[in-house]
Amino acid sequence: IMKIFVFQVVKETPYTRLCSTKNILTVNGQFPGPTLYAHKGDTVIVDVINKGDYNLTIHWHGVKQPKNPWSDGPEYITQCPIQPGQNFTQTILLSSEEGTLWWHAHSNWTRNTIHGAIIIYPKNGTSYPFPKPYAEALIILGEWWKSQISEIEEGAISTGGDPNVSDAFTINGQPGDLYPCSKADTFKLKVKQGKTYLLRMVSNVLQDLNFLAIASHKLTVVATDASYTKPLTVDYITISPGQTIDVLLEANQPKNHYYMAARAYSSPFNVSFDNTTSTALLQYIGNYTPSSSPSLPYLPYFNDTIASVNFTGKLRSLATQLYPVFVPTNIKNKFLVTTSVNTYPCANNSCLGPNGTRLSASLNNISFVNPSIDILQAYYKNISGIYSEDFPGFPPVVFDFTAEYQYLPYELPQPGTKVRVLDYNSTVEIVLQGTSVVSGGDHPMHLHGYSFYVVGWGFGNFDPNRDPLRYNLVDPPRQNTIAVPKNGWAAIRFQADNPGVWFMHCHIDRHMTWGMGMVFIIKNGPGSEAQMLPPPPDMPPC
Ligand code: C2O
Ligand code: CU
Repeated sequence: IMKIFVFQVVKETPYTRLCSTKNILTVNGQFPGPTLYAHKGDTVIVDVINKGDYNLTIHWHGVKQPKNPWSDGPEYITQCPIQPGQNFTQTILLSSEEGTLWWHAHSNWTRNTIHGAIIIYPKNGTSYPFPKPYAEALIILGEWWKSQISEIEEGAISTGGDPNVSDAFTINGQPGDLYPCSKADTFKLKVKQGKTYLLRMVSNVLQDLNFLAIASHKLTVVATDASYTKPLTVDYITISPGQTIDVLLEANQPKNHYYMAARAYSSPFNVSFDNTTSTALLQYIGNYTPSSSPSLPYLPYFNDTIASVNFTGKLRSLATQLYPVFVPTNIKNKFLVTTSVNTYPCANNSCLGPNGTRLSASLNNISFVNPSIDILQAYYKNISGIYSEDFPGFPPVVFDFTAEYQYLPYELPQPGTKVRVLDYNSTVEIVLQGTSVVSGGDHPMHLHGYSFYVVGWGFGNFDPNRDPLRYNLVDPPRQNTIAVPKNGWAAIRFQADNPGVWFMHCHIDRHMTWGMGMVFIIKNGPGSEAQMLPPPPDMPPC
């Protein structure tokens, strides 16, 4: 089935939060933006019309876009931005996805207000692998700054320092009633006693992971990143930027009001952080006992890494006959990719980082620099000088993360636009190694064009002799974003069966901007089924 949506991105839409009003970029005037509803197997055509004053692109996060990187969206990776007044028609191939995904702008930090959910229902005649919920609801986490997001980003680039902490986290665009001027608009989820609800949660937060819980209620996780999981019943979830988590909520409590609350899981110890709590209300409309003031749920402390991995590490694929797991074995390409925020030496008010700044970020000590034209076009048209194919890490280097803060010249990252080229259908394992001993935090690493299995994780340095012995190759969760724990590592596997140009990056926007990204080019394979599609005629010019 073919569906058509029109996205009109308009600049001047005034929104009021936290007692002040500013103009924000929106799609069709909505914040959060419109939800795309589809069924598994649908093709969705989206006509993106840029009526604002900024360059932009739109990305379909978690949609694999088989053979069709042209519509993937990250700027300077698969396309040049859509300029003001221009439009671009994107084809979204929902071939294998089912569940909750989302779309967002992929230019600078404009996703702060340009984002929305993609809800992909099972094919007609099939259903969820859990009892049909009474109703469904969408919960989108975000962040609100009173100043313009472009100024916040500019600050993080020009000073090379951490950006201003946001003024609030938001639930469906609302800070909630613990914040000034926010009570009346607090998001309210109305539920009937005795019924079960499917909550589709999306994190569009820019700078932090979050803990989320509902007072007096358990949450049963049934999917993450549009892959079904074994039901996991918990008191709180950890959700990272980019991630989606579907939970079942049983409305089984006696009072009329309960708080849903979210706050940062923000592991850096020395960075000022937002430790405020955003709230929404669970409001019973059936039989209930009135209560005057609802209480807040328990949430782990802001830097509780153990609490975070205690949740994330328990996710398991459903792994049934209908929802099988195919973990690649016989790995041809093994990478170790270190994720670092690098601190440069400073003297006399000037530092050795990019443009005299103190911080940058890198993967395998390469700090990604956007090219002047998109890598996909350069690859397709054989234009040289845009990128180089020498992204390091193969064969895996041994990296000692305890050395990060030594300020040794050879530890400093080099800027570069480097890719790694892989053969069609080759099997890939990437061990993502965190490198932060004292400071730093989790890095939610996201891969475009694929879902991957998270076969293992741990704390400390990855040990190639010992750690693979305890990989889970039976029912590992299938994700497109994995939070690499602070001081730890995560191992992912996928089969390179989607030819194209695919970005891998940290989904914390300041880290991505500082260079925590790289690109995989997957070559065409034999036969027409393994060839990248040709570009659409209206690719935005560079
Ligand atoms: Cu959700 Cu590269 O993005
Ligand atoms: Cu990061």
